[in-house]
Amino acid sequence: MTQIFAHRGYSASYAENTMTAFMEAEKAGADGLELDVQLTKDGEVVVIHDEKVDRTTSGNGYVKDFLFKELRKLNANKKGLKKEPIPSLREVLEWLQTNRMICNIELKNGLFPYEGMEEKVIRLVRSYKLEKRIVISSFNHYSIVYSYRLAPEIETAPLFYEGIYMPWVYADSIRAKGIHPKFSLISDEVIKSTLENGIAVRPYTVNKDTDMQRFFKIGCTAFITDDPVKAIKIRKKFEKRP
Ligand code: G3P
Ligand code: CA
Repeated sequence: MTQIFAHRGYSASYAENTMTAFMEAEKAGADGLELDVQLTKDGEVVVIHDEKVDRTTSGNGYVKDFLFKELRKLNANKKGLKKEPIPSLREVLEWLQTNRMICNIELKNGLFPYEGMEEKVIRLVRSYKLEKRIVISSFNHYSIVYSYRLAPEIETAPLFYEGIYMPWVYADSIRAKGIHPKFSLISDEVIKSTLENGIAVRPYTVNKDTDMQRFFKIGCTAFITDDPVKAIKIRKKFEKRP
């Protein structure tokens, strides 16, 4: 059964990367979450997509220039009625103790290197004993390799914007157990060969019915979507098929 990962939580209906978006994804029945992490000035791992707080919160400036306690005063639900803080990764991992969800932590260390980010994330994951339910991904493949060296028991998956040749060979070479390709840039044949070679495939970000159907039909490991409710409805139709 193809798993459904809620991209930045249930972000089609709730403010992205907030506890509400994660909790609503779980209520909807998503198998997993995808979230993005950055580091504050005082080294707290926080869950926010952009390097800057401007787009998604009431504040402005770089995450890396805020102390955690100052960052927490910002509202990450600026279009909604209820004020919500930017979550810390610790808060999300603590909540994951109450359910069985898988959590894909995307390290957003492409622009700023955020020295020590991998160690901090891994320390947190280990402290909550969540090693088996975490997938670490990143567009920064050096960071993927470094994460694997630090914690070979935690699954890693490189993210791709581009189609690459024989991605299973590449994944194997960096000891990654999965790949997270841009959904429109990977063919059915390449997905099938990757799966046959024992590498998980979780394309992002799949929001249209026809694209969801495509990945259920292929039997992809998972896909990452803003709308887990829609994905679950479509999956139910596939499960009913003889
Ligand atoms: O992890 C898949 C996807 O989230 C990568 O792109 O920009 O949405 O973080 P982005
Ligand atoms: Ca992401």
